[in-house]
Amino acid sequence: MKAKISLSKDKVISKVDDRLYGSFIEHLGRAVYTGIYEPGHASADDMGFRKDVLDAIKELHVPIVRYPGGNFVSGYNWEDGTGPKDKRPKKLELAWSSIETNEVGIDEFQEWAKRCGTEVMMAVNLGTRGPEEARNLVEYCNLDTDTYYANLRRQNGFEKPFGIKLWCLGNEMDGPWQIGAKKPMEYARVATETAKMMKWVDPSIELVACGSSGPFMESFGEWERCVLREAYEHVDYVSLHNYFGNQKDNTPYFLASSLVMDKFIKEVVAICDEIKEEKKSDKTINLSFDEWNVWFHSNEQDKKQERWQIAPPLLEDIYNVEDALVVGTLLITLLKNCDRVKIGCLAQLVNVIAPIMTEKDGCVWLQTIFYPFLHTSVNGRGTALVTDVDCDKYDCEDLKSIPYVDSVAVLSEDESTITIFAVNRSMDSKSELDIDLSGFDGYKACKWVALEGYDVKETNSATDSHVKTVEKAIPETFALEPLSWNMIQLKR
Ligand code: AHR
Repeated sequence: MKAKISLSKDKVISKVDDRLYGSFIEHLGRAVYTGIYEPGHASADDMGFRKDVLDAIKELHVPIVRYPGGNFVSGYNWEDGTGPKDKRPKKLELAWSSIETNEVGIDEFQEWAKRCGTEVMMAVNLGTRGPEEARNLVEYCNLDTDTYYANLRRQNGFEKPFGIKLWCLGNEMDGPWQIGAKKPMEYARVATETAKMMKWVDPSIELVACGSSGPFMESFGEWERCVLREAYEHVDYVSLHNYFGNQKDNTPYFLASSLVMDKFIKEVVAICDEIKEEKKSDKTINLSFDEWNVWFHSNEQDKKQERWQIAPPLLEDIYNVEDALVVGTLLITLLKNCDRVKIGCLAQLVNVIAPIMTEKDGCVWLQTIFYPFLHTSVNGRGTALVTDVDCDKYDCEDLKSIPYVDSVAVLSEDESTITIFAVNRSMDSKSELDIDLSGFDGYKACKWVALEGYDVKETNSATDSHVKTVEKAIPETFALEPLSWNMIQLKR
């Protein structure tokens, strides 16, 4: 099989917003407790944060981490996680039928984020609470005034404001599973009034309104239109969430998941622009794809979990090679749409549908999906280029014309490097690459990193981390192995 990848100097998609490589930590399962936080662990720092986990996360260079949920946030009282730890209440947590000890809250998490070199993307509870509690939280986090909540933060030991810039107006409020789920107009009204009050407290913040929990939601489209008609001038982004799984054990079909993501993005962009036109507004609403990943492996085992445990092992998907290829193509899709998708959050970061896993009292280990995320996050910054791929295609069930080779290229800020990300979806054929760089003179291939040669079902574990990317020698002609993820860098 052959594929021709064509780039041209004057065909750019957009500058990539670094926040495309964000992630997510929810108070869910072992993400926080025995994940990022485990006082007593050999690597714990003075606040109980695991330094081995911090080191693994730092490798990924995630610029933002969404917190504290997720479904969790819709029943959360942020005040419970502040102040002296011995006074914090232990509560029933209804989103995941667990017990929340509140040992970690925003006081600790913002400190963890600093130690991690990342920023907090904070969600407010619009399930059981509303504008009042949200504006108090903005004051607690961001203000320097001599007023109650800013003073409460000082009293809790934090003189300087946390300076949280990016905020989510609730989570998946369209989902019947959500605590305090809403009809479109109910959410549209509360989101608008909450947004106004939060920005009155701190006009420098940016706000993300909840879009649909997936393109499969019955209210998809109607929800976005209703929310944007009310909230348009008060919010900056609309959110998208989408998880993928190989439920039918059909690898060619699963590998085409990114076509579903791409269609979803384009439909939401069209709705945002339709409402812009309707309102004759100068403002463009961009997209925050703040939950995306593969999620399905743990579904059955999670049904067997006993209720009301502290930090039960929930959503602990063990990822294989085909999952890593899908994550690679989802990242390519986000980059192809980076003119409108400004924020992305790989859901999630540690233990819960995560690239990084921990053993309680033990080691950190890396899942297969860690690798495409690592290389794309580190090297996929700069300007995304229109990348034409001419190759064979296949049809699978309802998905048609699926290109065997999926690819996108990014030009670094200083224009010294072109990085091409490419996945070969073919189960059995190598794909020879012809790279046409019109207008990019003097660039020469200097690095090739690949995840290849494994069975699609191979995984890593705490004791065996053999699935990983390898650096390959530069050939005369590149040939992508069947079922492989690749990064090719050219420098001038
Ligand atoms: O990321 C896991 C869960 O998926 C989140 O809590 C929720 O927002 C989504 O349904």
